[in-house]
Amino acid sequence: MGPGLILICLACSLRYGFSMDKFVAAVYEHVPFFPDPSQVPVTRTEALALMNRNIDVLETAVKTAAQKIPDPAVNWIPCNDPHRFGQAPVQERLSCIAKHNSIYFAANFGDKKHCNASDPRCPPDGYYFYDTTVVFGPEGKLLARYHKYHLFLGESLFNVPEEPEISTFDTPFGRFGIIICYDILFYNPAVILVTDHNVDTVIFTNAWFNTLPHYSAIQFHSSWALAMRVNLLSSNVHNISLDMTGSGIFAPDKLGPYYYNNTVNDGHLLISELNSHTRNSTECSPVQWDEYASQIKKPLPSSKVFSGKLMLDNYTMTALTELQGCASVCHHHLCCHLNYSMLEKRNDEVYILGAYNGYHGPHQVFYIEVCTLVKCMNGDNCDIATDSAYTKFKWFSLAGTFQSTIVYPEVLHSGVQLDGEMFQVLKDGRLVSQPKISSKALLSVTLLGRNYMKDPKNLNISAMS
Ligand SMILES: *[C@@H]1O[C@H](CO)[C@@H](O)[C@H](O)[C@H]1NC(C)=O
Ligand SMILES: *[C@@H]1O[C@H](CO)[C@@H](O)[C@H](O)[C@H]1NC(C)=O
Ligand SMILES: *[C@@H]1O[C@H](CO)[C@@H](O)[C@H](O)[C@H]1NC(C)=O
Ligand SMILES: *[C@@H]1O[C@H](CO)[C@@H](O)[C@H](O)[C@H]1NC(C)=O
Ligand SMILES: *[C@@H]1O[C@H](CO)[C@@H](O)[C@H](O)[C@H]1NC(C)=O
Ligand SMILES: *[C@@H]1O[C@H](CO)[C@@H](O)[C@H](O)[C@H]1NC(C)=O
Ligand SMILES: *[C@@H]1O[C@H](CO)[C@@H](O)[C@H](O)[C@H]1NC(C)=O
Repeated sequence: MGPGLILICLACSLRYGFSMDKFVAAVYEHVPFFPDPSQVPVTRTEALALMNRNIDVLETAVKTAAQKIPDPAVNWIPCNDPHRFGQAPVQERLSCIAKHNSIYFAANFGDKKHCNASDPRCPPDGYYFYDTTVVFGPEGKLLARYHKYHLFLGESLFNVPEEPEISTFDTPFGRFGIIICYDILFYNPAVILVTDHNVDTVIFTNAWFNTLPHYSAIQFHSSWALAMRVNLLSSNVHNISLDMTGSGIFAPDKLGPYYYNNTVNDGHLLISELNSHTRNSTECSPVQWDEYASQIKKPLPSSKVFSGKLMLDNYTMTALTELQGCASVCHHHLCCHLNYSMLEKRNDEVYILGAYNGYHGPHQVFYIEVCTLVKCMNGDNCDIATDSAYTKFKWFSLAGTFQSTIVYPEVLHSGVQLDGEMFQVLKDGRLVSQPKISSKALLSVTLLGRNYMKDPKNLNISAMS
């Protein structure tokens, strides 16, 4: 990723002096301008020109969002301090955008930070280079800054802060926290922001490759908001050749609006009203994830059960051969139980129920427990994920004997579409369809447990507790 990278804009209406129960958020999915690969490294002037082209697009989006956010009382605060960030022209522009539009504004880019040569971690050029999100308040003040902690494979360009940073800021409409991209799959700081720092809304800039069947952007990100019971403002990069698309304004009770378009290379602005304090506006007794499933008898060994791969993991699977019925599969201690009824049983589509309990992928960086109903690409070869399906289900009910305390419920429809109205999570841990017939064909239904304490990075924490 080059210095021209900027990924998000976020706007919230503001009234001073009193707290607000609701606010308006906007998220922009941006098609970034990158440096010409043949010109690397680019000069400072070139990098700045590129950044300015990116910010031009964002500024237009912010103005559009601000006009749609009715709050005339504070619509004008002059940007009266242009030289305050004289050494930092990008920050100056972002600050002015926030001021001019009287909004909170978050943006993501690479940030260089000087380090002391006596610091053994300091790179040879004397600068740390961090993947960074900054937030400016409606007066243009820098309110928060966050450096990404969990770098994805191949992001070796960036440095990792020594410890995960807890970056929060308070507004009249609740407390905000910041994470970036791959961070969302881990415990610290993403989960800790919610559980220990009482964050209501998480700002989440990302450049997310859609990975079916369980980790497409809108699918996993909306389920994170649902399971953590917070708002998640997710701004993805738009690049369809890299399969990057899928942004959304997600709340525990509202999985959208979202944007997913893998056919045109256009940016897109989303705007939505949110509750400021999600956790006292939604019910708070926790789900007992294994309550229902632990009452069901473990299935007897069956010739219908086979082993197959999903996203490189070795699942125990069984195919759904009937129009309706029950299916159960176990992998180690995790048993998954499904009850289902299809509207019609098609001969050209195979759905499987799969169970997996272990580290994900060859790099083994995180531990998952998964119960999943997925449509397979062809036959019962599910290793190649598909994004389209024709079979509609009358109803389904999925449960598993999870040891994870946090389980992410995902229901995805054909064409990578969400519909929060179509399902609910019961207190006994069942993920069930709503009692109305879906008009949409089903791609997958998943309970994705994250046993964070088994992650290599957390083994010390679990040993202590
Ligand atoms: C670098 O670190 C050394 C040792 O901690 C300290 O004496 C020196 O002042 C530092 N230099 C700068 C420029 O911060
Ligand atoms: C998408 O990303 C690739 C690889 O970084 C880049 O070459 C291409 O120009 C990008 N496409 C757009 C539309 O930005
Ligand atoms: C993507 O956008 C184009 C142009 O607006 C539209 O024709 C197409 O239907 C969209 N595709 C999806 C999947 O939303
Ligand atoms: C919701 O929580 C916030 C902060 O946690 C508190 O200020 C507010 O009074 C609560 N609202 C209700 C209706 O309980
Ligand atoms: C996958 O699991 C099956 C059944 O548990 C086992 O027989 C097979 O050896 C495993 N394959 C790999 C590659 O781990
Ligand atoms: C499936 O549903 C039927 C009818 O509602 C119920 O009797 C049965 O116990 C369910 N089985 C499982 C495994 O949930
Ligand atoms: C666990 O803690 C020890 C001692 O503090 C440290 O040396 C080790 O690197 C830690 N392991 C992991 C996986 O973080």
